[in-house]
Amino acid sequence: MTKISNIISGTMGWGSWGHNLNLKEMENLIITCLELGINTFDHADIYGGYTTETDFGKAFINLGINRSDVFFISKCGIQYPSKKRKLEIKYYDYSKEYIIKSAETSIKNLNADYLDLLLLHRPSPLMNEDEISSAIDYLKKQGKIKAFGVSNFQFSQIELLKTNCEIKWNQIEFSLTNNELAFNGLFDYLMKSKIKAMAWSPLGSYFKLKDVKSKRIERVLKLLKKKYDASEDQLLLSWIMNHPLNILPVIGTTKKERIKAAIESLNINLDKSDWFSLLVASQGYKVP
Ligand SMILES: NC(=O)c1ccc[n+]([C@@H]2O[C@H](COP(=O)([O-])OP(=O)(O)OC[C@H]3O[C@@H](n4cnc5c(N)ncnc54)[C@H](OP(=O)(O)O)[C@@H]3O)[C@@H](O)[C@H]2O)c1
Repeated sequence: MTKISNIISGTMGWGSWGHNLNLKEMENLIITCLELGINTFDHADIYGGYTTETDFGKAFINLGINRSDVFFISKCGIQYPSKKRKLEIKYYDYSKEYIIKSAETSIKNLNADYLDLLLLHRPSPLMNEDEISSAIDYLKKQGKIKAFGVSNFQFSQIELLKTNCEIKWNQIEFSLTNNELAFNGLFDYLMKSKIKAMAWSPLGSYFKLKDVKSKRIERVLKLLKKKYDASEDQLLLSWIMNHPLNILPVIGTTKKERIKAAIESLNINLDKSDWFSLLVASQGYKVP
């Protein structure tokens, strides 16, 4: 089985939802990731309004890479109004038929043969555990998915599903600026249940919002940059990775230098006091 890389490249911004990379640029970015040691690519059927998996798949097949040298994640369940799908509203569908169809479509679009990991994109109040486990069972037996997980699920929602299907991963929003999940019991539950975690938007709002929180964080980062000889993004990533849950960041950048910086951040060992200084800067108050 292909091993997942410690840093995951998120493809949400590769296509029409972001940088609009052309075929050659996608090929180059895939090669860059592989050369830097990232073999894992995070997809979802909806990215680019149902177009990015197809664009990526064309680049992937052109490169002639061995399927077993890469690890593909995809997600399903969101019905997203877009040019490709004329819908009145966005909603969630976790019926057996829809999960199977969606996974099969992702596999076809990615030119992938199978998915290394299929995630349910977001929890739905209408989830039916029997339908979901039956779909996952079918996809596994057909060799279409190697592993199954969820995204943005709370522990009670995981408990609901895990009676009948093994949940290997939860992809969650986690960063220095969005750190609630480390405090609401989910992380303790994941550790105890041996469910692994990967974090989307691992840089949080730091580069997006110039608010008081970012300013407080900036002041601490300024000191730590010298101490660790590291950049701001590297320190933000290392803050996540220095949590005992062993969280893998799903990074969104398409820039080679930033991808390289992310890989190098794997070597940063943050002192506990520095980890807490950053937490305090984010919260705006000291720990009790
Ligand atoms: N499961 C879910 O519900 C869910 C939701 C959202 C996203 N995701 C996944 O998570 C992935 C990553 O999400 P994200 O893009 O929000 O992650 P991110 O890595 O936290 O943010 C990436 C953004 O930060 C910018 N950035 C990086 N380093 C910077 C720096 N030093 N200075 C200024 N800006 C910097 C990047 O700009 P450049 O591109 O210009 O470098 C990019 O716009 C997505 O691609 C997707 O695969 C999953």
